[in-house]
Amino acid sequence: MHIVHTIADLRQQLSGFRRPAFVPTMGNLHEGHIALVKQAKPLGDVTVSSIFVNRLQFAPHEDFDSYPRTLGADAERLEAAGCDVVFAPREKELYPEPQSYKVHPANDLADILEGHFRPGFFIGVSTVVMKLFSCVFAGMPGGVAAFGKKDYQQVLVVRRMVRQFALPIDILAGETQRAADGLALSSRNGYLSAEERAEAMHLSQALRALGEAARNASGVPDLSALEAQAMQALARRGWKPDYLTVRRRADLMPPQGPLAHEPLVVLGAAKLGSTRLIDNLEI
Ligand code: PAF
Repeated sequence: MHIVHTIADLRQQLSGFRRPAFVPTMGNLHEGHIALVKQAKPLGDVTVSSIFVNRLQFAPHEDFDSYPRTLGADAERLEAAGCDVVFAPREKELYPEPQSYKVHPANDLADILEGHFRPGFFIGVSTVVMKLFSCVFAGMPGGVAAFGKKDYQQVLVVRRMVRQFALPIDILAGETQRAADGLALSSRNGYLSAEERAEAMHLSQALRALGEAARNASGVPDLSALEAQAMQALARRGWKPDYLTVRRRADLMPPQGPLAHEPLVVLGAAKLGSTRLIDNLEI
């Protein structure tokens, strides 16, 4: 496996290949990332992963500085998973000058849920993903890029970006990997104290309970009331929920009318102590 730090070296390593399978990450890898690499690998002729903590998607009060940088351990895990090339650019390589050209995703998708609570987040994500795509896929007939469904809204934002810019890239959405108690694997789980870690499973349980309540309600359920109850229940356990909500999978809009045949997803974000966790369940 080759570890490269510049765009020129990345392109050199990829010359001669025609269909990269690409897994972008911010490092501090866990089994969720490794599962994505293993899923993506057979779909390309070279497997590439990037490790880059993208300042553009962090608000000033968020954890950009403290976000764990663990390149050595990450590289070992990627090599064991069959990755061929790791692209770990320094900040000056990807952003040699202030990034004044940005990708602004559609408000209806990017300013709700995560985008509402983290304004500008999806501009930062879309901009770096577009840039990483151009580093990896420029000159290629096509390729595949893999993203985890734990960041459900991110997958939709990236899919729509790829469609609207006619990029020749297939987006693979990998299932969320979970700990035995149901907690979705996340790089930020490492911030939890032992006590918080024991409590953290209650986010996925709350989503499951909300999904069941919505599905079991007869007629047109009062989703706002069910969502408010779910948030209150988590708040009573000491969480600070941003949202727990039932949405259409296709566009993350609230469902209208009876739910019987609508593909739905329950999404949630809540703070436990100083750690903000997100999760979702397709129902
Ligand atoms: O999901 C992530 O880790 C990041 O948002 C991504 C896609 C690597 C862009 O920085």
